[in-house]
Amino acid sequence: MILAAGSGTRMGGEIPKQFLPILGVPVLIRSVRAFDRCHSIDEIVIVTRESDIQTVEALCQEYGVSPKLKRVIAGGATRQKSAFLGVEAASKNCRFVAIHDAARCLITPEIVVSVLKEAYRHRAATAVYPIPDTVKRVDRRGRIKETLDRNELVAAATPQAFDRDYYIAVAAYAEKKETAVTDDNALFEAVGQTVYTVDCGGDNFKITTPGDLVRAEAALRARGEKETGK
Ligand code: CTP
Ligand code: MG
Repeated sequence: MILAAGSGTRMGGEIPKQFLPILGVPVLIRSVRAFDRCHSIDEIVIVTRESDIQTVEALCQEYGVSPKLKRVIAGGATRQKSAFLGVEAASKNCRFVAIHDAARCLITPEIVVSVLKEAYRHRAATAVYPIPDTVKRVDRRGRIKETLDRNELVAAATPQAFDRDYYIAVAAYAEKKETAVTDDNALFEAVGQTVYTVDCGGDNFKITTPGDLVRAEAALRARGEKETGK
């Protein structure tokens, strides 16, 4: 599932961030390509805003996305809802799902494989990366209360991969209990289930603010990519 149904408030601007070009290729297409090129992926579902469905279909055609792309569907008001709708839309015989933020467009097929492998073993796994900063807990007035142990902290990234039936059961239960979460792992935490982690490296950051566009282009150039337009 490639989640692209957000409106990119923190990015600002007219065009939603999933359609902005990074070295000439839209953010969404970069994410879709990594899954398209990944041999562990059989089918792709893109979740987008209802009004963007046609735009997404046209982009996928323009950039030559393969027949692995099964459906482009409308998402929900929250990421949680969009993820659930995407997982439900997968083919019946699909046993494992990987949920990915379209905005993490520096994702590679290798990372997808390593997260899936961990999910095959443990039913639930997620990409994470180490936090370079020392993180403090502060009170409401901004006074430091404690320094968190950096060895125990990671940033949650995507893909997050799950046994599909297990995910649907957990997500449905969390919804019934009205548990609101910002990532799919938190659903599992909320019901006391374990999610395993895979270090994907800090390059798999999420495009959130305008500065991230520059950072993403720099990271791609460091990988040897040039401005292409296709
Ligand atoms: N997303 C989604 N459905 C939503 C909200 C978010 O599919 N209702 C997707 C976004 O398109 C993005 C990913 O989830 O690829 C991570 O969300 P985020 O980075 O927060 O994107 P936006 O919600 O678009 O940005 P913002 O929070 O700044 O508005
Ligand atoms: Mg958001």
